[in-house]
Amino acid sequence: METATKSLENDHVQILRLIDIMELAIDNTEPDVRNLQMMVDLIKNYADGYHHAKEENLFFPLLAKRGFSEEQGPIAVMLHEHVLGRNYVKGMTEGLENYQNGNKISLGAIYKNMHGYIELLRGHIAKENNILFKMANNALSEQDHKDLLQQFKQIETDGLQGGTIGDFLNQIETLSETYHL
Ligand SMILES: [Fe+2]
Ligand SMILES: [Fe+2]
Repeated sequence: METATKSLENDHVQILRLIDIMELAIDNTEPDVRNLQMMVDLIKNYADGYHHAKEENLFFPLLAKRGFSEEQGPIAVMLHEHVLGRNYVKGMTEGLENYQNGNKISLGAIYKNMHGYIELLRGHIAKENNILFKMANNALSEQDHKDLLQQFKQIETDGLQGGTIGDFLNQIETLSETYHL
């Protein structure tokens, strides 16, 4: 059976690829800014705009209906980590703006925020895959998974900021070739 947690895990595979690419790009003193911008845009539009929307707007609320607390425990921790992730993204975005305005020293801030994001997201995804999703699979019915999958699909149909899922996956593929991942 296709499950909602499997769909989220599949997103994680792509997000982890993106993170591996970022790690390869970090600490280059002569970076290709367009590629760094593409990575930040993918985090914003795919990892956060799409994947975290699936979790925050659909998956976590259904888990709450099935008895999970949103104020403490794994969901609260996951929500908090999404916020921490957005702070790193803000740091990367500001750093890139400054860099493009000629402030070369801000490259350090870009890489620092990328490092932080990589570390945070690796731990975050491991917790979701290994702990939260296993708990969720015990709590959700077959119908719950079906409903969630349909709602996930609807997010795509409604349209996403910055492109389609196909566009995002193509961009990750292009970046992985560029950085020889
Ligand atoms: Fe998450
Ligand atoms: Fe996730």
